[in-house]
Amino acid sequence: MNKKAILLAGGAGTRLYPLTQIVCKQLLPVYDKPMICYPLATLMLGGLRDVLIISTPKDLPMLKDYLGDGSRLGIRVEYAAQPKPEGIAQAFLIAADFLRGSGASLILGDNIFYGKLDFYRQALATERGACIFGYQVRDPQRYGVVEFDADGRAISLEEKPKVPKSHYAVPGLYVYDERVVDFCRILRPSARGELEITDLNLMYLGKNELHVKLLGRGMAWLDTGTQTSLLEAGNYIATIEHRQGLKIACLEEVAFRCGFIDEAALTAIIDRLPKGEYRDYLQLVCAEGPTGAHDS
Ligand code: G1P
Repeated sequence: MNKKAILLAGGAGTRLYPLTQIVCKQLLPVYDKPMICYPLATLMLGGLRDVLIISTPKDLPMLKDYLGDGSRLGIRVEYAAQPKPEGIAQAFLIAADFLRGSGASLILGDNIFYGKLDFYRQALATERGACIFGYQVRDPQRYGVVEFDADGRAISLEEKPKVPKSHYAVPGLYVYDERVVDFCRILRPSARGELEITDLNLMYLGKNELHVKLLGRGMAWLDTGTQTSLLEAGNYIATIEHRQGLKIACLEEVAFRCGFIDEAALTAIIDRLPKGEYRDYLQLVCAEGPTGAHDS
């Protein structure tokens, strides 16, 4: 598996105005950490260590300031600009030089996954085709929607349909083989002027090379698109963290438990952190050692 990761943190975040007037959406707090930690942790837990963060020219400096070149987390982070919101699939064209012929996994910077990530690791290990996921939601018309036949095979995909054919939304986590950039070069903008990720997935579906895996009830896929869903996501994270005394998507912990950084590197990070709950937590993680709760 030699796939690289793309984290798309684009968009103006207009639905979250005025919060997004000051700071970009993906840096807004989801309980005790910036939103971008959650999708980045998902990529890291998938074992991906080469990450391209794509954002608007306006927001890139703040993201760079926070995550740097990733070396403190034992990963490599690069940055690229998406000047205009011209679609999720455009990310692969922007990433063409970064990918240099590797397969890619893309995650949206406002998508939060919590639960066992075996489904994702399996998808990353798939050599040919594309892997996307289906997740039951109450309001599928807000998302890409996948429909299955009686044998569980995906038969249609629609972007934000007015009348959804199923309750299965497609989360913002995708895995593609090395042909993805070439396929995106053929895509044409949709009526709303975007290169649609759903159109890319339809190309793979048309070739019978789209794998769609349903995420079960034990998985949480949280939305942060509106004020209410952002608050609900924060409350969810807070509830689990308080109950277990474990943090979700604490990047330094994830890096340590994945073996991307060793105890000396974690200790060096801790020494530079301000006194407080986050530092105390990492001290416990460091004392416990890299084994232990692995996922999310
Ligand atoms: C995008 C995709 C949609 C997907 C969703 C997941 O929509 O276009 O297919 O289901 O992300 O978050 P957006 O949230 O950009 O409107």
